[in-house]
Amino acid sequence: YQTPFVQAPILRPDRSGIDPVDGAPTQYYTLAAMAASAAILPRLKTPILGYNGIFPGPTISVEQGTKAVVRMRNQLPATHPYDGHPLYSSTHLHGSASLPQYDGYANDITNPGFRKDYVYPNFQPARTLWYHDHAVHHTAINVYSGLAAQYHLHDPLERALLPQGEFDVALTINDAMFAVDGSLAYEDNSHSGLWGDVVLVNGRPWPVMKVKKRVYRFRVVNACISRSLRPTLSTGDPVTMVATDGGLMPVSQSVASWRHGPAERYEILIDFRKYKAGQRIELRNMSNKNNVDYEFTNSIMAFDVVPDPVDTKDPTWNTIPVQLAPSEVMALKPSATTITRPFKIARNNGLWTINGTTWEPIVASGFRDVAANPDLNAVEIWEFHNPGGGWYHPMHIHLIDFQVLSRNGQAPFAYEKGPKDVVYVGENEKVQVLMKFGPHTGRYMIHCHNTVHEDHDMMVQYRVGPEDA
Ligand code: C2O
Ligand code: CU
Repeated sequence: YQTPFVQAPILRPDRSGIDPVDGAPTQYYTLAAMAASAAILPRLKTPILGYNGIFPGPTISVEQGTKAVVRMRNQLPATHPYDGHPLYSSTHLHGSASLPQYDGYANDITNPGFRKDYVYPNFQPARTLWYHDHAVHHTAINVYSGLAAQYHLHDPLERALLPQGEFDVALTINDAMFAVDGSLAYEDNSHSGLWGDVVLVNGRPWPVMKVKKRVYRFRVVNACISRSLRPTLSTGDPVTMVATDGGLMPVSQSVASWRHGPAERYEILIDFRKYKAGQRIELRNMSNKNNVDYEFTNSIMAFDVVPDPVDTKDPTWNTIPVQLAPSEVMALKPSATTITRPFKIARNNGLWTINGTTWEPIVASGFRDVAANPDLNAVEIWEFHNPGGGWYHPMHIHLIDFQVLSRNGQAPFAYEKGPKDVVYVGENEKVQVLMKFGPHTGRYMIHCHNTVHEDHDMMVQYRVGPEDA
């Protein structure tokens, strides 16, 4: 632990205004995806692709009720420096109920030299989102190269309950492998995944953060291509889980460690008041099944407690809340539906499949084939079944938040008792999720967020409502 901890800068809007069509208050942003060079390792330069040339990209921070229009310029080179694939892009704001045309649909690509304006409604409850590339067949390598960043949606309830400002800290975690010249090594062994031997937090290897004797909130995003994490504190103390992918949990949960798959977001509180100035607390990573572990992948980052007599007495957000927020999706009851749709996720003849199919037949159908077609506002249970012992699959459903109903017939883990949009479907697990479809109609993707699986070709789509003309 030697590198100083940093966070990505907050992106400033170009301007604020009123949307001429719907009169909504709107902030306008511009981002450019481009090739750049990053100082990740000592004395070496790493060529990356980054939003505004940095990894992670700038954090966008917005208030509920204000729309964001993000002009995304694709200023990437024509082809990827590692494998030569064309660098068309599609940007997905993961966690946003965006209209289909702004959702980063894999085949809705923007070529280098072109741009697209994405409209984000920001009407949902406060949450940690992240935006990342979603270009068809190349999501894994594009995200690995650096096209990923956080996006924070605030609302008054979350502002009152959880630490803000310097005590609200983004942790984007990913693993990487480097060649001797400092460049990223991308090695996808037989389309099963990529496991790096270096752990990066906000683009820095195993950083150290100075913390005051306060309650801190960490927005932990697993931005790994394939690796799942199981974070835990070196002190053995539990953390307090307060929010999941879709925002505040109904009730906070004390957990000693949690299984954290790619694309899942967990917000935790760590109470540093009880530690001594000068004490170092590590955030470690315990092993999950079916990862490739290296000597130092059991470490994530460290916190050094600094003396801070004044702030300890400031009561603002300096308590651990128990009751948080009831949410619409967590209040859903399974009795509200009679529909349970099975989704079997498995490897067939070298391809990763969902109910035996992949993205290619959907492309061949002119994007008409769908794996499910719920009505607008329909409530359904979806059951993901991973019958094999060899892999875990973090399954993501676009558009909606869901409630994890059960895992192998048992109650979900304490830390997943909040609104989610990715669920960890472990080895030999059958996981049921419950949700209501809306508020938009149209076609949205369902896929594994081990992005190597997603690219080869564990992705299908569903449609809410009738097919449009
Ligand atoms: Cu985070 Cu379809 O993706
Ligand atoms: Cu998978």
